[in-house]
Amino acid sequence: MAVVHQKTRVLCAMMMLIFICFVMVVSRNLGQHKANIQKVRVPSNRFWRWWKWSDSFWNREQQQLDLIYNPILKVTPTNDVEWLPGWLNDTQALKPCDPDNRVFSQVGDYNTLPQRFQDFLLYMRCRTYPILINQPHVCDNRPFLLLAIKSLVPHFDRRQAIRQSWGQAGNVANRTVVTVFLLGATTSADHFPDLSGMLSHEVELHRDLLQWDYRDSFFNLTIKETLFLEWFSRHCSNAHYVLKGDDDVFINTWQIIHYLTNLPEVLTKDLFVGDVIQNASPHRDHRLKYFIPKSVFVGEYPPYAGGGGYLYSGSLALRLNKVSQQVALFPIDDVYTGMCLRKLGLVPEKHRGFRTFDVDKKYWKNPCVYKNLILVHSRTPQEMIQIWSWLVDPDLDCQ
Ligand SMILES: *[C@@H]1O[C@H](CO)[C@@H](O)[C@H](O)[C@H]1NC(C)=O
Ligand SMILES: *[C@@H]1O[C@H](CO)[C@@H](O)[C@H](O)[C@H]1NC(C)=O
Ligand SMILES: *[C@@H]1O[C@H](CO)[C@@H](O)[C@H](O)[C@H]1NC(C)=O
Repeated sequence: MAVVHQKTRVLCAMMMLIFICFVMVVSRNLGQHKANIQKVRVPSNRFWRWWKWSDSFWNREQQQLDLIYNPILKVTPTNDVEWLPGWLNDTQALKPCDPDNRVFSQVGDYNTLPQRFQDFLLYMRCRTYPILINQPHVCDNRPFLLLAIKSLVPHFDRRQAIRQSWGQAGNVANRTVVTVFLLGATTSADHFPDLSGMLSHEVELHRDLLQWDYRDSFFNLTIKETLFLEWFSRHCSNAHYVLKGDDDVFINTWQIIHYLTNLPEVLTKDLFVGDVIQNASPHRDHRLKYFIPKSVFVGEYPPYAGGGGYLYSGSLALRLNKVSQQVALFPIDDVYTGMCLRKLGLVPEKHRGFRTFDVDKKYWKNPCVYKNLILVHSRTPQEMIQIWSWLVDPDLDCQ
């Protein structure tokens, strides 16, 4: 009897111990959980500091897009309606492709800005323009590399030189290469001659032109970028890689294919390489081509690859197309692409083969210099054909 009693007492004590242990473990976990929650919570003062509306037009447009596309922030204004500034409410009714008359009052120095800014700001929200010339089947034979070249209608000779040299479509180094030229409209309003007859002939002959109905100008190159990405998503989404560049660069297509063929698999999906510019800020001198006034944009530029040419994966092109909806159009196209990459959490990578600032002039006529380069800016049509003839020469010896 006494033994049984003793056993029960031991059992009780053990159960008690287990219970205490259990309680300790649970309470410790709970404590950690609480600490985690506290760590994650954004201090409200920082949150509100961020929500100071910018005085610069682009930044404010971007804040507004952030508000629309951020599910957490999106809830906030419904709880606190007065917090919505009046001008944000205005825009609900605004059609994106109507002239945005808010700019006259909201961009303080609108009337004194250079004409190109006035034009840009007035239509900054418009992203849809009709396609005039399409090549919906150009990618039917899955391209390994799509060369998408920004051109202007009058640049017939540049396009022809590209076709006869580095932009030869078809089979290159046993890979399928497709070339398309991206055009906007050049109208009599900008004093362009009427070249539509010649353009129709070129379309018939080569079937490699894409044209949209918007004014082809320097500040509208960003539209060229977004319209191209949209076109790519619709008509060429199977392409493995894209090189987007200008029509005054020389590209060593073989070197690109060689580089891509030897690229480690893990690097292919997020590939974005070019001549990357870091820590750049807007130029405030109004005489410069890249001048950006403070009333339009403040802040630093994200790392971006110079627009002369950059190379990226088809998979990334699709993601850029989607994310571009969340980034307000910026008048400098390559900076804009950098902004889209940043939105995706990616950073473009510098590759020494991209020479958008050219090679030393004393090497210009040296065929071997071009052998290991990917891109060099700028070259005339004649130079493109000459350099290509050096590269195809089987006797070229660069040892
Ligand atoms: C937005 O504008 C509409 C009509 O213009 C008005 O009825 C509404 O109260 C406004 N909302 C806010 C939050 O200002
Ligand atoms: C060419 O490419 C095909 C398919 O990618 C491959 O099967 C073939 O071996 C390649 N030929 C040469 C000569 O590399
Ligand atoms: C961009 O194109 C649109 C449509 O043609 C035009 O209204 C606008 O003025 C152009 N912007 C610039 C900066 O040229």
